Amino acid sequence: MTESITITDNRSGESYEIPVVNGGVSATDWAKILPGIWFYDPGFMSTAAAESSITFLDGTAGILRYRGYPIEQLAESSTYLEVAYLLLNGELPTESQFEQWRHDVTSHTFIHENVRKRFLDGFHYDAHPMGMLVSAVAALSTFYLDAKDIFDPASRQKQIIRLIAKMPTLAAAAHRFSVGMPFVYPDNSLDFPSNFLSMMWKVAEPRFETDPALSRALDILFILHADHEQNCSTTAMRVVGSSHADPYSACAAACAALYGPRHGGANEAVIRMLSEIGSMENVPAFISEVKAGHGHMRLQGFGHRVYKNYDPRAQIIKKAADDVFEVTGRNPLLDVALKLEEIALSDEYFTSRRLYPNVDFYSGLIYQAMGFPLEMFPVLFAIARTAGWLAHWQEMLDQDSKIARPRQLYTGADARDYVPMARRGA
Ligand code: ACO
Repeated sequence: MTESITITDNRSGESYEIPVVNGGVSATDWAKILPGIWFYDPGFMSTAAAESSITFLDGTAGILRYRGYPIEQLAESSTYLEVAYLLLNGELPTESQFEQWRHDVTSHTFIHENVRKRFLDGFHYDAHPMGMLVSAVAALSTFYLDAKDIFDPASRQKQIIRLIAKMPTLAAAAHRFSVGMPFVYPDNSLDFPSNFLSMMWKVAEPRFETDPALSRALDILFILHADHEQNCSTTAMRVVGSSHADPYSACAAACAALYGPRHGGANEAVIRMLSEIGSMENVPAFISEVKAGHGHMRLQGFGHRVYKNYDPRAQIIKKAADDVFEVTGRNPLLDVALKLEEIALSDEYFTSRRLYPNVDFYSGLIYQAMGFPLEMFPVLFAIARTAGWLAHWQEMLDQDSKIARPRQLYTGADARDYVPMARRGA
């Protein structure tokens, strides 16, 4: 049975039937009935801006799937590189497809010497690594002029490989610069997360040996952050990409969106909050303060626009945290976090608003225990989300989508004549 909605225009008395397709109604169909009347939806609260077959998200049931595969199974059995392939190609790779993909990504990890020596070295000594990343990703478009051939399949694939491969190198380079350490070249004998850890932490040893438990935990965090359908940064990628800008420029826009504390910066806010609370005894008083603040003071890492249930990623991270703490020692803030979660989940203020821990509640504790400075948290997020951004960019181009260009409801002055300065009032 085809579902539909009938609406009546009370001005003319005419009724129109509009089909419901994939859970949505076409705004173009509505526009035929209501010419010149726009849907007012700041923040896209009730607008589906795209059809997508990449990620399925049911925030009420707490379900997240990439290309149909439950996030729990991917986190348990897959790797970030395999998940990136899945997001970009729609299917899990065969052994030979994966070997080719791994080889392609691994052989593109180096960045042009000028990116590092002239471009990155030009930043102020205390530059924020995320600001450096945003700019460096944009700068890559000037190194790969073929990137403009976005409808040439071979060129598109090349840029996708370059971006996935070079993000960890740029990220580590930004960190090393911001702490005054020399750049570490990629070690292509290492797997994706271990190579990143080597570029981050290597000092004078000939070969950096990472603990496999830490590499695996980081890879799991990358898997969990690889995509999340039409979030703010992915929307930025699609919007900029819709003008047919090259993928580096579009990806830089996505990175910039992720830089904001409401998006990629929330896990940093969680650590600051937990440090401020300090110990478990202070948790009840902090919860009371949040409640008395009536929304002005927020429990960081709690609540989500889409999830009105436990964020499935938070469950997985909580488990991964134990493996990391076994190697690094327990993060003392974990007890504060657990107490906070326990009290909040039994408090009517939080349960009635369906506020549960989101992905950021525990991820910062792991990053901190692994030695990442707070400024690197959004950078780590950007490395992982690059796969999702590129999958959406590619999908958007294949859909031959229109340039993103919303309408507005104008609320400014009516037409008026220009007044020369001498005749303007005080
Ligand atoms: N702590 C306390 N109260 C909260 C919180 C919170 N973390 N989040 C929402 N609320 C309350 C609001 O005050 C509001 O209460 P009211 O109905 O009495 O006014 C109600 O819950 C609904 O909140 P909204 O702001 O309408 O929810 P929205 O969907 O717009 O916000 C958001 C979602 C931004 C994530 C919010 O929950 C928040 O600020 N959380 C803390 C920051 C955070 O953890 N962000 C990370 C998100 S995940 C990511 O981007 C990777």
